[in-house]
Amino acid sequence: MSIKIKTPEEIQKMRVAGQAAASVLNMLEPHIQPGISTAELDQMAHDYIVNELGGIPAPLNYKGFPKSICTSLNHQVCHGIPGERILKKTDIVNIDTTVIIDGYHGDTSRMYCVGEPTIKGQRICDIAYQSLIIGLQAVKPGATLGDVGHAIQTYAEGQGCSVVEEFCGHGIGADFHEEPQVLHYGRPGDGVVLEPGMTFTIEPMINLGKKAIKILPDGWTVVTKDRSLSAQWEHTLVVTETGCEIFTLAPNEEIAL
Ligand code: MF3
Ligand code: CO
Ligand code: CO
Repeated sequence: MSIKIKTPEEIQKMRVAGQAAASVLNMLEPHIQPGISTAELDQMAHDYIVNELGGIPAPLNYKGFPKSICTSLNHQVCHGIPGERILKKTDIVNIDTTVIIDGYHGDTSRMYCVGEPTIKGQRICDIAYQSLIIGLQAVKPGATLGDVGHAIQTYAEGQGCSVVEEFCGHGIGADFHEEPQVLHYGRPGDGVVLEPGMTFTIEPMINLGKKAIKILPDGWTVVTKDRSLSAQWEHTLVVTETGCEIFTLAPNEEIAL
């Protein structure tokens, strides 16, 4: 058990898988409107991944997960199961997609404000996005995962929000979840020292209220214990000589690294 440094050939495959995962969200985006159910979004994602991308939706049957994407609404933190719930104006929803293309995984998630956002909804989505960006900006050879987690935690807590500790980012490649675990909190200098060719996700879950979570009786859906809003964004990246390359960038997304 150790961190796999990817070859240039593997990195190229992960670039392709990452862009495929981003394209799933691009495809879904215009459909994330009041009136659609999360099960309908799941079906669209499934069909697109299988028929248009020629890929595999990694969540489907992963440890028993029953659907092809995760849809997490409002006070749901992550791993929400698509179902009959209809999206309505002012919901915030995280859509998390992971695709396997030519044996390699791409994993990304974004937040959407359905219809028009509330002030609180917009705020937690923005803070969670900035938490991801600050984590990405901390990635470079010689930095540690503790540096990355510390940067995220310092920012999010400075905004009066909290960081979920029970779930984390992860190494990724031929396997969905590889070493290392990428915590979104930590102390500078702690943990794994980053090296070029390491591939992992950063996916901070940020709560507007307290950090405590619980898992619903469905065995999957993670929610905030205080029912405060929660938001998450996720990118898959490779450590480069100077910083990182993000495989799952969205079409108009520009990140100053
Ligand atoms: N995509 C999630 C992640 O970022 C994992 C979902 S696993 C599932 O790691 F089983 F819930 F789909
Ligand atoms: Co992930
Ligand atoms: Co994911």
